[in-house]
Amino acid sequence: MRVALLLCMLTLGSSKYYQHVDVMDIMRNYDVMMADSDDDDDDNNNNYDDQYDSCPLGCHCSPRVVQCSDQGLINVPAKLPSDILMIDLQNNDITQIKENDFKGLDKLYGLFLINNRISKIHPNAFKNMNRLRLLYLSYNFLTEIPANLPPNIIELRFHENKINRIQRDAFKGLKKLHVLELGANPLANSGIELGAFNGLATLYVGMAETRLTAVPKDLPSSITELNLEYNKVLKVEVEDFIRYKNLQRLSLSFNQIRFVENGSLANIPNIREIHLDNNSLKKVPAGLSSLRYLQVIFLHANKITSVGVNDFCPIRFGEKKNLYSGISLFANPVKYWDIHPATFRCVGGRQGVQLGNFRK
Ligand SMILES: *[C@@H]1O[C@H](CO)[C@@H](O)[C@H](O)[C@H]1NC(C)=O
Ligand SMILES: *[C@@H]1O[C@H](CO)[C@@H](O)[C@H](O)[C@H]1NC(C)=O
Repeated sequence: MRVALLLCMLTLGSSKYYQHVDVMDIMRNYDVMMADSDDDDDDNNNNYDDQYDSCPLGCHCSPRVVQCSDQGLINVPAKLPSDILMIDLQNNDITQIKENDFKGLDKLYGLFLINNRISKIHPNAFKNMNRLRLLYLSYNFLTEIPANLPPNIIELRFHENKINRIQRDAFKGLKKLHVLELGANPLANSGIELGAFNGLATLYVGMAETRLTAVPKDLPSSITELNLEYNKVLKVEVEDFIRYKNLQRLSLSFNQIRFVENGSLANIPNIREIHLDNNSLKKVPAGLSSLRYLQVIFLHANKITSVGVNDFCPIRFGEKKNLYSGISLFANPVKYWDIHPATFRCVGGRQGVQLGNFRK
């Protein structure tokens, strides 16, 4: 369930245009109330009528949730009820987050600031937010990662800002992260300072639609999923994945990769899924047949001219633990009738290979 949810949340980050996030849905999906109920202090004598009285103008308040989206707000409303768990401020015109905007909101679980005009966040703005799990800052004007991020965040989203630099120790102390979304920012490899990801553990890193020309080598070694779609990566080198032993899903679709150096994929022995479609590969990458768990490899829309009988499957039967469920090779200039049928001997099911025709 957790995993399914994580994956469905990931697609959120890769959409091209701002989409409204349904905070109440998130509230249900994450069992936010449950997360709160196992807390130490049981102040269940809250009087919600009082909260309604103090509900900021233009906002909609329900128990522990304040929704102030789409109000044209230029500031975070003052006097937010102090025991709220979620605050929805998406789609407003807020330009900066000031030091005391969220002061006293120590129970906050989710903070949604998507699609505003935020370019400045005070370094103490998130102070004492030790329970904050979800911080959504996508579709704003941030140029760097805000300082002093709360330590227990599990989702941190900066999709489509103006981040061109990730400073050293930017995420230091964030050990519980599942999702770090940095896609659609003008971030080049040179903008990632040495040690930028020091002291960070996360499962997913999203850096699609940035200005990367190479796979960043300094990402947290905890990652299981990496999205580098729509960049300008030119090749994959042996050093690229050395640190990412846990990687299970890798997407490099829509880059300009001509070459995958032999040995580079051997560094990610747990990989299940690789997307290399829409690149400029002339050959099937070396080393696929040694990846025991690999099930999906997308190679369509490349320049592959020939496919060898051992490109996908180990020579000795039984060495492959998981059979392939998806190999795509269509839209390549290979003559499909030249591919030996035994090439796909370790594919499960008849729909497992997509060849198709190459049309000039
Ligand atoms: C890749 O490297 C391995 C190990 O050194 C070697 O056995 C294999 O033949 C190489 N493959 C290609 C296509 O060069
Ligand atoms: C990706 O490849 C498909 C199939 O050849 C092609 O139709 C499409 O235009 C390509 N997309 C990009 C962005 O290059």
